[in-house]
Order: sequence, then C-alpha cells, then structure tokens
Amino acid sequence: MNYDIKDKKLAPEGKLRIEWADNQMPVLKTMREDFSKEKPLDGVKISACLHVTTETANLMRTLKAGGADVVLCASNPLSTQDDVAACLVEDYKIPVFAINGEGNETYYQHINAVIDHKPVIVVDDGADLISILHSKRKSEAANIIGGMEETTTGVIRLKSLSDRGILTFPIVAVNDANTKHLFDNRYGTGQSTIDGILRATNILFAGKVVVVGGYGWCGRGIATRAKGMGANVVIVEVDPLKALEAVMDGFRVMPLLEAAKIGDIFTTVTGDIHVLRKEHFEVMKDGAILSNSGHFNVEIDIPALEKMSKKKRKTRKFVEEFTLANGNRINLLAEGRLVNLAAAEGHPASVMDMSFANQALSAEFIKRNSKVLENKVYSVPTEIDDKIAKLKLASMGIKIDKLTKEQEKYLKSWEIGT
Ligand code: NAI
Repeated sequence: MNYDIKDKKLAPEGKLRIEWADNQMPVLKTMREDFSKEKPLDGVKISACLHVTTETANLMRTLKAGGADVVLCASNPLSTQDDVAACLVEDYKIPVFAINGEGNETYYQHINAVIDHKPVIVVDDGADLISILHSKRKSEAANIIGGMEETTTGVIRLKSLSDRGILTFPIVAVNDANTKHLFDNRYGTGQSTIDGILRATNILFAGKVVVVGGYGWCGRGIATRAKGMGANVVIVEVDPLKALEAVMDGFRVMPLLEAAKIGDIFTTVTGDIHVLRKEHFEVMKDGAILSNSGHFNVEIDIPALEKMSKKKRKTRKFVEEFTLANGNRINLLAEGRLVNLAAAEGHPASVMDMSFANQALSAEFIKRNSKVLENKVYSVPTEIDDKIAKLKLASMGIKIDKLTKEQEKYLKSWEIGT
C-alpha cells in the first residue's frame, strides 16, 4: 500500500480519538451500517481531499464500508492530525497522503498522489483537487462520474467553472445542504474558531473587542459565541442585508478602518482576499490579535504585514509577533490559516455527523444517477437533507409533531382567508 504520513506509531492514539468522534456521529454510523449491508459503492474508486481529522476518518470508514476503494489527502497543510492519518493506514488500511506542516510542494504532491489512484468519484474541500483535475491533470478527469464539495469557497470556485462551461463532471454542493451550512458553518465554525483562538493564546474573551469580518453563516456563529463569552463584538460587512441583520442581532457594525482602531481580536470568515490589509495594520492597537477561519490563508494580507514589519518572532506555538515600524506589535495566529483546524481540532464531531452524512449519501446519489447527471453544480437532494435532519433528531431523542390531514390541506390551499 502506497501512502505518505508522519509516523505509523501514532496509530493507537488516533484509533481512540476516531472512536471518540464516532460515538458522537450516530447518523453517519447508521449510514455505515446500511452501507455495509447494501454495498452501494462496490468497487468505486474514491479520492478525497479533506481535512485529515477524526471525523473525516469516520467518513472514510463509511465509504469503505459501502464497498468503495478510498484514498485520502489533506485539504490544508496545517490541519492534518498525524495520529489519525497513522490509524487510517495502520488499522483501516486506507492510504493517506498527509503530514501536518507539509510545505506547498508536498501538499500538491499529495493531491497528485490521490489523482494517481484514478478515481471515479472525488470528494473535495476548497476545490484544490478538482481544480488540478481541470488544469494540470485534465486527462485524469475523463473517468470521473462526479464529485462532492464540502465548503463555501469550494462551491464558489466550482460554480465559476460551471458558469464558464468548462466543468468536466457533475458536482454535488454538499456545503449548500441545509443540514450542512446551517449547522456546521454556524455552530461548528462558531465554537471551534473560538476554541482555536483560545488554545493559541489563552486570552480572556470577556471585555475584549472582537471584530468579525463577514456575517455569513460562519461569521454569525463566531459573533454569537464571542458575545456569549462577554466580548464586545463588532461586525464588518460589504453586503447591506447581512450588515442590517447584524445590527438587528444587536452587534455594532462599522467600516473595517474604524474597527481596526478599536479591535483586540480580529477574525475573518469572508471567503474573500486581503480583507485585513496594510491600511488596517497601520492603525491597529499594540498587541492586536489576527486570526482567520475562512478557507484560504489569503484573507489577511500576510505579505504586506511581513513587508511593513521590522521584526518577527514566534512567541507561542501558533502565535507570530510582528513588530511594526511604529513599535506596535501585531500577533498573527496559525499563519493566517483556518485557526479552528490549525490550532484546535476543527468542528466537534456531532456537527460533522450531518455534514459527512451528506457526503456519504451524495456519493451514493452520484453513483446511482451517473447516467443522467450533467456537468453542472447540483444541490443535495431535499430527500437527503430531510432524512439527515430526521435521523439527527431521533439520535438526540427529540420527537416533533406531525401535520394533521386538515393542516396539510390548509397549507396547500388558497380558498380559506379571513
Ligand atoms: P457566507 O457566504 O455565508 O459568508 C461570507 C460573508 O462574508 C458574506 O456575508 C459576505 O458579504 C462577507 N464578505 C465578503 N467579502 C467581505 C469583505 N471584504 N469584508 C467584509 N465582509 C465580506 O460564507 P460562509 O459559509 O460563512 O463561509 C465563509 C468562509 O469560511 C468560506 O471561505 C468557507 O469556505 C469557510 N468555512 C470555514 C470553515 C472552517 O472550518 N473554518 C467551515 C465552513 C466554512
């Protein structure tokens, strides 16, 4: 078996943590049991490019239980949990190409390694794998019947390929399922981003001015949780609707240039480029902390920060202190990469349970419908979303009401008014 991981001896620790996560992923477990019996992915070669975490390990186990021949590489150089990679190789015989801290060159070598597997289905998080299949390795895309995309930024990139008419296989936008982004992006990113900032710095949130860039699903989650911890939260936005929503949710909203002067902690979750840049660094307070939870490390203009600094040193494992010409120090967390995955463990398993149940059922959907799907970006079918919501509620022991016959009829009618 071909693989590239840090150290196989880390496997026992990884196994325990994967089991721990699995206990909080009842929906995915149900799917794994069904898949083991029905083998809907029998013989299907799947290459995945995902954060190598305990939750991903359980998705890989599920796909394999369904009969798939799976391989995995990292979707970010800093998010790999080396013990998980070791356990997947050693105990579950799933080839992994991922080492925490790998450089850009190795990162792309690993993506190329999973393409060498000659996949029929691909699973991506951020669309780096799929974009290589549309550029440097176009010929390998011919056998692919479809792919799934996990995150907002990836879906944006793939819709751009589709809009230009150059997408060469169908995509299911897993991110856009309600049981994904309404929970994973909001509650998952909300909690784990704060977890990452805390683990990196051990600062007190209460009383701090926390500036959140972007009030989308992730931003809402972070802002609400930071507020709950006693922080004074400021939102910066470019979309008037989102800004209005933030105001009515009780947050202060202002341009970033103003927020830059008062913020103690900054976190970007926009999916955009150079949100925090030179003009903002120049007016920040001494000791300001910068973090990012958006998919790529481009939301903070790090080259500009480097250029305007006279000194740089590492002060804690995930903290780099930049001293500017004016003497102010700015602290950058986790090299501007997803702070929740680099400095903490990413989303809690119970929320990834739904995201990855969507992935598993979407793989089955692609396999079943490969003859009719066109080369465009599809939503996750509503039946899959509904099934996952029902299973999740059931796993939590929560029951809900059913419409009566009279209500069903009323909700479909126009005749009854005042
Ligand atoms: P979203 O589209 O719901 O929200 C993004 C928000 O940022 C929008 O409201 C947009 O108006 C705003 N925005 C864009 N440019 C801006 C700028 N220059 N200044 C201020 N606001 C700006 O997207 P979502 O789902 O919240 O995702 C955001 C990012 O987080 C994406 O890159 C996504 O891939 C990533 N993500 C990261 C996760 C993690 O584990 N860290 C988990 C899920 C998503």
